[in-house]
Amino acid sequence: MRAKKLSRDKHQHDRSDHRQEPTDPAPDTTNLAQLRHAAAGCRACDLWKNATQTVFGEGKPATTIMLVGEQPGDQEDRQGHPFVGPAGRVLDQALAEAGIERAEVYVTNVVKHFKWSPAERGKRRIHKKPRYSEIQACRPWLDAELNAVKPQVLVCLGASAAQGLLGRHFRVTRERGKMIVSLLAPHVMATVHPSSILRAQDDESRRAQMRAFVQDLKQVARLLRTKHPLPLSA
Ligand code: URA
Repeated sequence: MRAKKLSRDKHQHDRSDHRQEPTDPAPDTTNLAQLRHAAAGCRACDLWKNATQTVFGEGKPATTIMLVGEQPGDQEDRQGHPFVGPAGRVLDQALAEAGIERAEVYVTNVVKHFKWSPAERGKRRIHKKPRYSEIQACRPWLDAELNAVKPQVLVCLGASAAQGLLGRHFRVTRERGKMIVSLLAPHVMATVHPSSILRAQDDESRRAQMRAFVQDLKQVARLLRTKHPLPLSA
């Protein structure tokens, strides 16, 4: 089905200079600018139809930490950058509290188009969780980013990222903050998505959830401070 969509769409990015298997829309390069350019024309699933633009990952090209979220939200879709809306502000605050500079990390999502439905009233666009098939359709882009950035530590933010990268049966509730053995990076961890902190029921639980999130990120910071990092909790 993806192959058909790829050949059918007349607006598809011209990739005649880097022929691909129809199932893999990502060009074979570790150049992030080229990948971003190619991803702008991705039609591997239907999500591009209602999105403003592809929101590709951003950050240092060769860095030690890669953070992976679910998908761009309303603000990210409008602005074209990952984690620049309310969840991004929570993430920025948590990173700062953990002693990690956002400028030092590469931030991306498992799905690169905003999936939404119109609010019953008003103009709001309501976030819709991506399907597993949509995450899989987008996976070549994330694999290409991983191959380009080669992070020492990969952090999955929330269930969509964790299940997309670590398997459908992965449970963040059970495994958060633990180092996971994976071929994706020397150190892999899953933690909550920052938007879950925004949805906390009251200030007290919001503060507690933020503290736990910062603790998880502090583990990452500590890992990077040791010369030969070892998993801190397994
Ligand atoms: N939520 C995500 O998962 N990613 C973003 O970029 C923004 C919000």
